[in-house]
Amino acid sequence: MSAKLMKVFVTRRIPQEGMKILSAAAECEVSLWDSDEPVSRAELLKGVQGAHGLLCLLSDKIDAEVLDAAGPNLKVISTLSVGFDHMAIDEIKKRGIRVGYTPDVLTDATAELTVALLLATARRLPEGVEEVKNGGWSSWKPLWLCGYGLSGSTVGIIGLGRIGMAIAQRLMPFGVKRLLYSGRTAKAHATEVNGEFVPLDTLVSESDFIVVSCSLTPETQGLCDKAFFSKMKNTAVFINSSRGAVVNQEDLYEALSSGQIAAAGLDVTTPEPLPTNHPLLTLKNCVVLPHIGSATYSTRGIMSALAARNLLGGLQGTEMPSELNF
Ligand code: NDP
Ligand code: DGY
Repeated sequence: MSAKLMKVFVTRRIPQEGMKILSAAAECEVSLWDSDEPVSRAELLKGVQGAHGLLCLLSDKIDAEVLDAAGPNLKVISTLSVGFDHMAIDEIKKRGIRVGYTPDVLTDATAELTVALLLATARRLPEGVEEVKNGGWSSWKPLWLCGYGLSGSTVGIIGLGRIGMAIAQRLMPFGVKRLLYSGRTAKAHATEVNGEFVPLDTLVSESDFIVVSCSLTPETQGLCDKAFFSKMKNTAVFINSSRGAVVNQEDLYEALSSGQIAAAGLDVTTPEPLPTNHPLLTLKNCVVLPHIGSATYSTRGIMSALAARNLLGGLQGTEMPSELNF
């Protein structure tokens, strides 16, 4: 087969670093959904027809229907993300399609954003900024806009993986006293941050700050629910930078509005975008960001190049720099 016949569908405008690599690949005929907004389902199903390679985003649901629409040519799917919960992995595996993703290269950026979100939430930065703008700042007041500090605190990390560990490393220098973590298995690297592997219930009831950084799986879906929040301290702060579906948002709203927990910071929600009339957005003690964990110029450029290289490796049947082993 002529290498020129390798059809690739890219589901969004991506940073030029990746597009340059694809454009320079003689064997690729690239078609792009040339927009900053998501491809519609209908256009995705059309665009993928006959494709040998698909470069997608976390907002594209890659299920049996998409794989059927692509047909038997499809050799590789490369996602511009480390999370792969948007893909029907069992279906993909059954069809012998390889998957590329972007671990490691976004770890620092995401950990940094998570720490920023934690500090902004615990120290009430969005509220403070708003008060300066709306004239609510009348004087320095001893009891006004007080929050919670990390010094001497207990931090609990759910999922001490690449990003969870990078968050822990950044938080420890703030004077954290105990670092608890939970997950399926204890981690050897936890010793670097004096991490204590504990049952989830212990983490939830003893932590002053809880940070969710696990992957979304059937086991973690809805993990943070009414029972979870009811075990948290009233003074504790909850942070989620993994996936929105790990949290039951109705239960979180109840916990925040009733004073069961102190505050929450979310970089991820269900759905995304969160509707502007969503109840969580009415709460002063809830800080919501638009899924920007990995959003530095440099990180997105590197992710784009990695996703392109993964795609080419899959098309050529050679090594992919970051292939998902499933
Ligand atoms: P890793 O695979 O390195 O870490 C995932 C962690 O999830 C592991 O430590 C794993 O622990 C843990 N985990 C899995 N199942 C459970 C469970 N049942 N209970 C508790 N923990 C569990 O991935 P990364 O650190 O690279 O990324 C983590 C996630 O962060 C991604 O999957 C993605 O969803 C999200 N993400 C969000 C970003 C954002 O912009 N907000 C940016 C990048 C990633 P164990 O090994 O013990 O199972
Ligand atoms: C991911 O990579 O999974 C993030 O959610 C976006 O960078």
